[in-house]
Amino acid sequence: MSTTAPGPRIVLSRYGYPGLEDVPLPAGAELVTPPAGASPDAAELRELVADADALVVSTPDQVDADLFAAAPRLKVVALVAVGFDNVDLEAAARHGVTVTHTPGVLADATADLAFGLILMARRRLVEATDIMRRGEWGAFDPRSFLGLDVANATLGIVGYGRIGAAVARRAAGFGMTVLQHSRSPRPDDGIATAAPLDELLERSDVVSLNVPRTPQTTGLIGARELDLIGPRGTLVSTARGGVVDEAALLDALRNGRLHSAGLDVFATEPLRDPHDPLLHEPRLVCLPHIGSASIETRTRMTAMALRNVCEVLAGRPAPNPVPA
Ligand code: DGY
Repeated sequence: MSTTAPGPRIVLSRYGYPGLEDVPLPAGAELVTPPAGASPDAAELRELVADADALVVSTPDQVDADLFAAAPRLKVVALVAVGFDNVDLEAAARHGVTVTHTPGVLADATADLAFGLILMARRRLVEATDIMRRGEWGAFDPRSFLGLDVANATLGIVGYGRIGAAVARRAAGFGMTVLQHSRSPRPDDGIATAAPLDELLERSDVVSLNVPRTPQTTGLIGARELDLIGPRGTLVSTARGGVVDEAALLDALRNGRLHSAGLDVFATEPLRDPHDPLLHEPRLVCLPHIGSASIETRTRMTAMALRNVCEVLAGRPAPNPVPA
């Protein structure tokens, strides 16, 4: 545990948020962080926040009713993330704690990653890299590593918020036709055409999931939806684990009912079992939840989260409260 000068006590759940050293803090703030590499469990987090005025957390930290009960001085929980499904918002409201997040600043990095997954999955880039690493690059065979085109294909974006719209802008550069589906209708931006979910799934060659995790989106994509996308289709998700039924996805890939998929998010994170079948399905690209993991983006996220902390501790409204 490292601490600096006394003052408002700001607890960070992780060591090493990029750019933290450059962020202006309230006068005399005391920063408390776990040691490098540590990832506090629920009990350790409760202990850390006992005297905290502010708590800065990331997606894996569960901020539940027990935590709020253990932190009588807490005024603000600032997520270094846009998604807030790991925070019990009702308990926060009961305890009078403001919850903030980091919308917008990670949209481009996450959209870049979604496009990375699309290219990796559809053009079979992981399989091709693996072959080279094994020294198995054989004689030219016109049938080797045949994928499917990304250029000029139809992309369906499920969840047309800031990240979905950033995915659409990239798709326009690939000459793709873009469809979008959102729970609340979005104004026409001249890039994506709104469509009902089933129609979007049926018409799309590539589907990108960009919805938050809510009771309505949990299990949104199961066997029926995968069959609508079909055997020449690719599904990628940079949303949240639990939106896709992973067993149904594996079944569709193994049986050729879906061409390929790419996941940056999983029902269980971290996914540590090296024998997990998700990690060994050749047509499935897996990444360890790195959508926002660029230096510039994480630096912006840190600055935004700490700005919210400073404003709330100064008695002013948070610039980025989570939506009600
Ligand atoms: C987010 O910001 O919600 C990303 O998933 C990173 O956790």
